[in-house]
Amino acid sequence: MFKEQIDKTRVPQHVAIIMDGNGRWAKERGLDRIFGHKEGAAAFSDVTEAAVEIGVKYLTAYAFSTENWNRPQAEVEALMSLLVSTIEKETEKLLKNDIRLCCIGDIKRLPKPVFDKLNGCLERTAHCKRMTIILALSYSSKWEILEAVKNIANDVKDNKLSAEKIDDELFSSYLNTKNFPDPDLLIRTSGETRISNFLLWQIAYSELYFTNTNWPDFRKEQFFEAICDYQKRERRFGKTSEQLKTEI
Ligand code: IPE
Ligand code: IPE
Ligand code: MG
Repeated sequence: MFKEQIDKTRVPQHVAIIMDGNGRWAKERGLDRIFGHKEGAAAFSDVTEAAVEIGVKYLTAYAFSTENWNRPQAEVEALMSLLVSTIEKETEKLLKNDIRLCCIGDIKRLPKPVFDKLNGCLERTAHCKRMTIILALSYSSKWEILEAVKNIANDVKDNKLSAEKIDDELFSSYLNTKNFPDPDLLIRTSGETRISNFLLWQIAYSELYFTNTNWPDFRKEQFFEAICDYQKRERRFGKTSEQLKTEI
């Protein structure tokens, strides 16, 4: 059992996940891809519970990328209705567990009924404090960075900002993720070892964890295993190991 091995004093504050492998999970079972997505939603519910149990404060999940709009229309539609039914099913649970739902991405591109349903949940859970779930929807990091650059350029042009003031912190404050700390740990499932346009700026110093498990099979135990792996690492942020030991 990995849960018992977790050091509760060193739990990552923010875990981000690229939930990949739903389609392959379904194919292996001779099922339509959408069954993989449905089982993926169940896995997300499990992982949310696991994250709450150990005191993770922020859980970001890549649910739908900008590039995913290019999938066959039937799959996009199925994913959108799954999003609506998941929100309908989970909102009360979020409220009961004091979990806030936030969103990053170009959510104006979502179909109106999906957008409205999502907004309702964002508003209803806005006061919740125990953990924040950040759903990346219609999200791509290059899009987010370009939006930030455009907004910064406009603010400089309108004399609201001087170019000399642009630093790491200011740039971060123009991103969708401005209210959240950077992820400590990024998990990607399904054996793919790429970032796929996710949080490029924010994961500059995150620990990366790749597993061959397809997302629908990534449940509490697999999540706790990833946390244990994370806790074995030394985050040096450019310093030496010796320096870190004298700082404590
Ligand atoms: C991840 O699973 C879910 C989304 C991208 C929406 P995939 O649908 O990418 O599954 P694979 O990679 O085809 O197995
Ligand atoms: C990345 O998965 C996006 C999500 C998990 C939502 P994909 O399966 O779309 O990624 P690529 O295109 O194979 O890299
Ligand atoms: Mg995939």
